[in-house]
Amino acid sequence: MNERSVVVVSAGLSQPSSTRLLADRLTAATVDELAARGITAKVTNVELRDLAHDVVNAMLTGYSGGALAAAVDAVKGADGIVAVTPIYSASYAGLFKSFVDILEADSLAGIPVLIGATGGTARHSLAIDYALRPLLAYLRADVQATAVFAATDDWATAGGDDDNPLPARIRRAGRELAETVADREPSAPAGLFDAVPSFTDLLGS
Ligand SMILES: Cc1cc2nc3c(=O)[nH]c(=O)nc-3n(C[C@H](O)[C@H](O)[C@H](O)COP(=O)(O)O)c2cc1C
Repeated sequence: MNERSVVVVSAGLSQPSSTRLLADRLTAATVDELAARGITAKVTNVELRDLAHDVVNAMLTGYSGGALAAAVDAVKGADGIVAVTPIYSASYAGLFKSFVDILEADSLAGIPVLIGATGGTARHSLAIDYALRPLLAYLRADVQATAVFAATDDWATAGGDDDNPLPARIRRAGRELAETVADREPSAPAGLFDAVPSFTDLLGS
C-alpha cells in the first residue's frame, strides 16, 4: 500500500483555535497533493493543548507516558510533519518549545516539516524565520522552504485569492511538503524496533 504518515502538531491554546485552523488547511493541502501522486495519507493530530499538563510533567520527571508517549512516537515515525504555533511575545509559544524540548535530540532528524504560525498582527510574521525555522533546523529537520503565517486579518479578508494570498500560499506549502514526502522512502513506525533490545546493550559494552 502506498501510504505515508502525516503528523500535525498544533500549539494553539484558544478554543476554537486559529492555529488549529491553519494546521488543518495546511494538512488538507498536503493530503490532496499526496493523493494526486497516488499516495494515501494517514493523518495523526497532536493537539498540544490537550497534552499540556503531561508536557510539564515530562519536563519535571523526564518521563513521558500515555497520550504524550504516543504523540512523541508519532512524531518520531512521521513521513512528514505539519507544525504550527501561535506567536507569543514575538516568538513561538512556550508550549510548542516545551514539547520540542522533551523530544530526544535526533527525533526530527531528516523528517520533512512544513512550518506555520498564527498571530494577531502581520508585523510579527518574520518570527517564523528568525525563531521557528532555526529551532527546527537545529533539530536537523528537513524544514520546507515555504512557511505560512496567518494573522487575524488574513482570516477575515473577503473575496477570492486575488484579495487574499493566504489560500495560494497554503496550496504551495502543501504541494512542497507532499513532493518531499513522496520522494522519500516511507519511514518505519517509531517503536517498531525500540522494544527489541540490542545485543550490545544486553552485554553492557
Ligand atoms: C500571551 C500572548 C502573547 C501574544 N503575543 C503576540 C505577538 O507577539 N505577536 C502577535 O502577532 N500575536 C500575539 N498574540 C496573538 C496570538 O498569536 C494570536 O491570537 C494567535 O492566532 C492565537 O492562536 P490560537 O487561536 O490558536 O490560540 C499573543 C497572544 C497571547 C495570548
